[in-house]
Amino acid sequence: MRKPLIAGNWKMNGSAELIEAFGQAFAEDGFSSSAEILIHPPFPYLEAARRAFSGTCIEIGAQTLNPLHSGARTGEVSGQMLREFGVEYVLVGHSERRQLYQEGDEQVYDRALAALSVGIKPILCVGETLEERDGGQTEAVVLRQVGHVMARLEPEQRRRVAIAYEPVWAIGTGRTATPDQAQAVMASIRRYQAQFDRELADELRLLYGGSMNASNASELLAQEDIDGGLIGGASLKVDDFKAICQSAG
Ligand code: 13P
Repeated sequence: MRKPLIAGNWKMNGSAELIEAFGQAFAEDGFSSSAEILIHPPFPYLEAARRAFSGTCIEIGAQTLNPLHSGARTGEVSGQMLREFGVEYVLVGHSERRQLYQEGDEQVYDRALAALSVGIKPILCVGETLEERDGGQTEAVVLRQVGHVMARLEPEQRRRVAIAYEPVWAIGTGRTATPDQAQAVMASIRRYQAQFDRELADELRLLYGGSMNASNASELLAQEDIDGGLIGGASLKVDDFKAICQSAG
């Protein structure tokens, strides 16, 4: 039985005030969800998040990391530093990093490995562009992105990775993949994984991301191979994010 994972990726949004609001809202009596719940705030809010979320069920995620432990990399943050701030998960391969910061499959692999080496669990983000979908390339693109990382990890490392399928055309557009479209890709990721390790494929958590919100979450999360969500815009609204967490069960 896979425990659902609901992760809020704030991207370059949010504020100290919003961190406090989430801390208070999730500390209230009466909130319950069977899901593991994460917020990925921008780096400067990590310490405030650690304080505000202690005593709640929210765990802390980061949005990226540098593959090195330390060194002359102005503006960058290492996994070791994130770990000191209580970070449990980190996104790697988000399409905004791939597209805007030219992070290719190799850099994504390096980041996943760096995270694992300091005990942080990577959430590997994959997804096709609209052109790739229209060109019938969805499965090839997604499985290439998955394989480039997963095929090269040790079995024990693979067990600590979650995969988020985020079709690029659905991110921030209000255009969600239909439950059938999302389910089809998730099933192919799980089948691919089963080639290496049947047991791991059954345990692997697959999240859907791309305009998931309080209205469409239940239907998406009801799909057999969708074990959670990676939520952008709707994770900035306390009530909507709570509602999504509750629709996970
Ligand atoms: P939206 O939910 O705003 O579409 O963003 C999805 C996303 O990119 C989460 O990482």
